[in-house]
Amino acid sequence: MKKRVLSGIQPTGNIHIGNYLGAMQHWVASQDEYDNFFCIVDLHSITVPQDVKQLRAKVRELAGILLAIGIDPEKSTIFVQSNISAHAELTWILNCFTPIGWLQRMTQFKDKSEKQEVISTGLFDYPVLMTADILLYNADYVPVGEDQKQHVELSRDIAIRFNSIYGKVFKIPEALIPKVGARIMGLDDPTRKMSKSEAGQGHAINLLDPPNVITNKIKRAATDSQRDILFDKNRPGVYNLLTIYELFSKMSRPKIESHFSGKGYSDLKKELAEVVIEGLRPIQERYKEITSDPSYIETLLKSGADKARPFAESVLNKVMDKVGLG
Ligand code: TYM
Repeated sequence: MKKRVLSGIQPTGNIHIGNYLGAMQHWVASQDEYDNFFCIVDLHSITVPQDVKQLRAKVRELAGILLAIGIDPEKSTIFVQSNISAHAELTWILNCFTPIGWLQRMTQFKDKSEKQEVISTGLFDYPVLMTADILLYNADYVPVGEDQKQHVELSRDIAIRFNSIYGKVFKIPEALIPKVGARIMGLDDPTRKMSKSEAGQGHAINLLDPPNVITNKIKRAATDSQRDILFDKNRPGVYNLLTIYELFSKMSRPKIESHFSGKGYSDLKKELAEVVIEGLRPIQERYKEITSDPSYIETLLKSGADKARPFAESVLNKVMDKVGLG
């Protein structure tokens, strides 16, 4: 039997190349190897304030992007989290088995709460909802970028704790984190992770950015005052640009270094813009085709939820039975 993969992505802000290189492209690449569930996590999005109309539109846009990058609905189930009530229900039950000290350790909560005027209980509880997403589908693997590693570890801890009380109810999931690209940094500030919620114009390259926007963002990317173009982690700006180049060009590091030997940062930026634009072009073309018929996405999301729901409900029912509910 194929191993099961589950991963999630928030329909908030613009999907950027960090999301793509760190997570989404791996979902596509391993589609045949695993049995896949990809969840558009709108319940996670409302942990911070959202515009209602925009949230709905972003869910559809994200579904279109998932198809455009190559997720095949015949091989993978794409669904919206809020269409399956078991996610919220299991979260509540798991809350009752999660010591608050475990959540207080979460570094993403610390970072995100600093940006909020009012910190919702939902934002604090976010990792338990993510745990429910994972455990409801008996996922073996959770392919994510590095920033989600701590959350996947928490989901393991919660599953292990629950199992130690009630017997083997949950599968213990494992994070799959790529060796290269698990933490793409902001172009404007390469000491900070590229992030959807960062407002800066030159911060992230979005998957749907037109070529001139990509070129301009890369042109303005922060580098340093040195000359050599080398993969040196102590020079985060150039290292980040080279990593993006590596992932889009699929060339080896030594080949890239010799290719740029004797050249300057403006050459690197020009060639980087070219490979990124070429890499995103087919995605953007497919996105246009797919979204030309909005009813296609609606049908897809409905059938995705119908396919996912029985899996989630079966695990939820088992849990309810174990804890004496219902
Ligand atoms: P989200 O929506 O922030 O990001 C989606 C995926 O993209 C990865 N990622 C990055 N990878 C490399 N470099 C970056 N700069 C970068 N930024 C983001 C993330 O690690 C993630 O894999 N909580 C999750 C969504 C979620 C989830 C789940 C994931 C909800 N339930 C269950 C896995 C399993 C999130 O906010 O991801």
